[in-house]
Amino acid sequence: MAGIVVLLSGSGSNLAAIMENELPVKFVMSNNSKAYGIDRANKKKIPSFVQSDLKILELHVTKLCLSNDIDLIVLAGFMKLLSPAFVAAWKGKIINIHPSLLPSFPGARAIEQAFEYGVKYTGVTVHYVDEGMDTGQIIAQEPIKIAKNDTIKNLYGKIHKVEHKLYPKVIKNLLKWKLIKAY
Ligand code: GAR
Repeated sequence: MAGIVVLLSGSGSNLAAIMENELPVKFVMSNNSKAYGIDRANKKKIPSFVQSDLKILELHVTKLCLSNDIDLIVLAGFMKLLSPAFVAAWKGKIINIHPSLLPSFPGARAIEQAFEYGVKYTGVTVHYVDEGMDTGQIIAQEPIKIAKNDTIKNLYGKIHKVEHKLYPKVIKNLLKWKLIKAY
């Protein structure tokens, strides 16, 4: 039975969307003990693990992946850069969601960056993770128009709405079609 591990650092609304779509979340991991995403996992009785030391966290994820039937490592608002060694070990099996049309506005505060820049369109990108910051091969993108009367707050709402549909759909397809790259 296929399974996924979700790594997150914050609210976990993408985790909630993934769980609502009945995707096989086996474990949830975080670098942040205050992440609300951990509470969401606990409420659904999904085993969770918190570790602020990235090296130890990566070791734990590796152990879990090796001793369980894990197909995909899903970053859902995980705000740390994974080490090159970890990324190399699991290349093609780690995906991320980012709230902009990459390669524009990588890194933190992507929604604000796009809004402040004044672009007419921003969007959401799902991509494989490589050693860089939001630089891996793009799997899916969805554009979002920034209307004249949009505020940063409702742009957040628009982005999240798209993320919550797009990410579960992409994960489902990757698992279904075994599009997880050989590593
Ligand atoms: C999401 O908007 C996700 O795209 C973004 O963090 C948010 C997490 O929200 N990720 C990045 O910016 C990665 N560079 P959530 O915790 O409610 O799912």
